[in-house]
Amino acid sequence: MGTSTNIVWHESIVTKEERQKLNNHKSAVLWFTGLSGSGKSTISTALEKELHLRGIRTYRLDGDNVRHGLNKNLGFSPEDRTENIRRIGEVAKLMTDAGLLTLTAFISPYREDRDNVRELLDEGEFIEVYAKCSVEECESRDPKGLYKKARAGEIKQFTGIDAPYEEPADPELTIDTENQSLEESVEAVISYLKENNYI
Ligand code: ADX
Repeated sequence: MGTSTNIVWHESIVTKEERQKLNNHKSAVLWFTGLSGSGKSTISTALEKELHLRGIRTYRLDGDNVRHGLNKNLGFSPEDRTENIRRIGEVAKLMTDAGLLTLTAFISPYREDRDNVRELLDEGEFIEVYAKCSVEECESRDPKGLYKKARAGEIKQFTGIDAPYEEPADPELTIDTENQSLEESVEAVISYLKENNYI
């Protein structure tokens, strides 16, 4: 890691709380985690549309997109995945400070990496949403044809095949994407946000 010296943290004059007040909703991170093909991107995209229609200021960060830009120098080794999640965590923290309801859709297979992001944020700002779906079901969906490639040995270290996925121990929400419709999944998150006074 590089080191930065002679830098001083500057407090903003406009605070997070003031931004939240202006927006009329709290800021937080809806952290989706789950296997490739479990529905993280699909649910978070549909959810963002719903929230936007309700006047909520949102932003969505997605694995496939962020890896084209900010994290394009990272692969899928355990170290690179950890760095991927660390950077997303820092970006999500900035967005939370900016008053946004941020939705992230990354496999984020390691419990420790997700817990580190939780630590980075204030109490109640990290909402872990587990998109729960068996490897068998994700593999039969195989929307990008990646499981097929992984089985053929063309992709190494593929999550669920020859790389691990550590289930959340105590997520704020679990969505059974194997048995629930997209609408039900979106509604479950919206209900959670309302019941807990985020929106
Ligand atoms: S993470 O493990 O670091 O959180 P991330 O969510 O950013 O992963 O990226 C996952 C996406 O990258 C998958 O949906 C898939 O499209 C693609 N991908 C390419 N190689 C792999 C791999 N070895 N394991 C998992 N996903 C991969």
